[in-house]
Amino acid sequence: MTSEAASPVTDVRVERATVHDGEGIARLINYWAAQGQMLPRTVGETYENLRDFFVVRDGDRVIGCAALHITWADLAELKSLAVDEAIHSRGIGAALVHACVEEGRTLGLERLFALTYRPGFFERLGWQQADVMNLPRKVWNECYRCPKFPGCDEIAMTLDLDPLPADPAPPLEASTSA
Ligand SMILES: CC(C)(COP(=O)(O)OP(=O)(O)OC[C@H]1O[C@@H](n2cnc3c(N)ncnc32)[C@H](O)[C@@H]1OP(=O)(O)O)[C@@H](O)C(=O)NCCC(=O)NCCS
Repeated sequence: MTSEAASPVTDVRVERATVHDGEGIARLINYWAAQGQMLPRTVGETYENLRDFFVVRDGDRVIGCAALHITWADLAELKSLAVDEAIHSRGIGAALVHACVEEGRTLGLERLFALTYRPGFFERLGWQQADVMNLPRKVWNECYRCPKFPGCDEIAMTLDLDPLPADPAPPLEASTSA
């Protein structure tokens, strides 16, 4: 694939990661980490958190990934969002965010957050900038091992999730008149 064409990918299949994706996820994340765009991950950390991950594949190759990591009963972090540079701007990033948001709703979470250098990308998807100081301190768990801590310049984004609609009321039984 080349980086020149920017035609939309019409059939983006976002799927749950399997063990076969672990190295590909780590490779993709560490490509962007080397450019200072996100935190690096070891392959071991990737396997340990594999059940958080969604992926988009081109054949067997991971070309996009994102993870939804639960922080507390009402909060989860969307993290490790990365798309192969050669296939950017075709909607894969948005599709991965969408999968995480839908899972967050299904899980009953109230709010998602992300720490990013791409606030505009998230704003287009309905997220809002937030003051990181208003997020629970627990979200800083990983920050302590970041080379940029405590001078972090990532921007906190949040998305409040609408609750799933309540089950529709069961149909009233037809009244039987004697
Ligand atoms: C941020 C990132 C995940 C976006 O992935 P992507 O697949 O390019 O995302 P999308 O294609 O959905 O959207 C990217 C842009 O393409 C545009 N776009 C989306 N679909 C498009 C299409 N069919 N045709 C043309 N442009 C399109 C969007 O408007 C968006 O514009 P924006 O960047 O100005 O917001 C990717 O650039 C990346 O991996 N960056 C490095 C790691 C990183 O910063 N991760 C985020 C940390 S939380």
